[in-house]
Amino acid sequence: MDQVRVGIAGAGGMGRSHAQCLARLDGASVVGAADPYAASLEKLKAGGHMTNDAVYCASLNELLQAASLDALIIAAPDDLHLELIETAMQAGVHILCEKPIVHNRSGLDRLARLVAGYDKTFQVGLESRHLPVHKAIRRTLDDGALGQPRLLWCKEFRGPFLEKPGNWILNQARTGGTFVEKMCHYFDLLTWFAGARPVKVMASAAQDVLFDLYGATPDIIDNGIVLIEYGNGARATVMVCMFMPAGPSLELGILGDKGRLESVDPFVHSAFEFWSVDGQTHESRTEAPPDDVHRTSHAGGVFYEDAAFIEAIRNGTPGYPGFAIARDSVLVGLAAEESARNGGAAVRIEP
Ligand SMILES: NC(=O)c1ccc[n+]([C@@H]2O[C@H](COP(=O)([O-])OP(=O)(O)OC[C@H]3O[C@@H](n4cnc5c(N)ncnc54)[C@H](O)[C@@H]3O)[C@@H](O)[C@H]2O)c1
Repeated sequence: MDQVRVGIAGAGGMGRSHAQCLARLDGASVVGAADPYAASLEKLKAGGHMTNDAVYCASLNELLQAASLDALIIAAPDDLHLELIETAMQAGVHILCEKPIVHNRSGLDRLARLVAGYDKTFQVGLESRHLPVHKAIRRTLDDGALGQPRLLWCKEFRGPFLEKPGNWILNQARTGGTFVEKMCHYFDLLTWFAGARPVKVMASAAQDVLFDLYGATPDIIDNGIVLIEYGNGARATVMVCMFMPAGPSLELGILGDKGRLESVDPFVHSAFEFWSVDGQTHESRTEAPPDDVHRTSHAGGVFYEDAAFIEAIRNGTPGYPGFAIARDSVLVGLAAEESARNGGAAVRIEP
């Protein structure tokens, strides 16, 4: 395969980010896009990252008829992922689908069956795993510098979701809620750093502030705290606030029996600090992408994710991260939503 011919389903913010990143890769061309919202297609075309003869269609079925695709990136609203994946699988293309892979348990069950029988690359858009600084944190854990992770934490304090066509993202039924839609990224990172699957989740959360946005009426949690227990005895807390853009946005920490690691705004600074428990070592470590890559979507995370996708296609390997990892991130989100609705009652994560 000379060039991997990629199509995009969903030409909104994330679809355009993928087009920008794929255009930087030698081995890939973005040759078509599907979106029922013409304004999104126009913005994608105006971005200048598509091939000159790219086709623009109102639906994925039309795109699959109009262009010969090797691969598809799905960047449509969360509740449409499953049907778009099914259509893409019928066409036999390699698939990278954005997170959350699906937004409910029935979708996870159906997708588990579909993915099990699919022999093409299937990757999920948890791009945080591809960010160099997060990989450096995982390497530090692998080197044994922290010992066994015991306590982990993550805080994301940010402003409201950006305005979207139809404002689907403000709607619980279309996304699974804030813990599924947004926090699946951090539930996934914490699972990766903890080194074991989550087993139990408790949450306290509410919609207290954001009741009117962009002329729409959100019905999703805007602040909350989640407690997660892992199979190896590690514990994590996650705090989210959707109405606080001031100050640092993201803080991550891991405390093991041999040391402690903290990172403030890793997407901005590409750095973390490490202390050994005996006080002998205190280091600041930086693992930054080149500046031009850092300026692309999610500080380069999407660029590295897309590069990994194209490489997996060329090597005939499954995508990373794949369905099992993405499923856990959604299961924790769904459990947190359920626990918050039930006064913080513990919810077990199914095996
Ligand atoms: N990995 C990340 O960090 C990250 C960041 C932002 C968004 N996302 C995910 O990417 C997806 C898209 O988010 P976004 O921010 O780009 O939203 P968006 O609303 O900006 O874009 C979604 C686009 O999909 C289009 N669409 C609707 N129905 C469609 C259909 N049937 N077929 C094709 N396109 C259709 C919409 O018209 C819109 O243009 C979501 O799943 C979201 O969770 C991931």
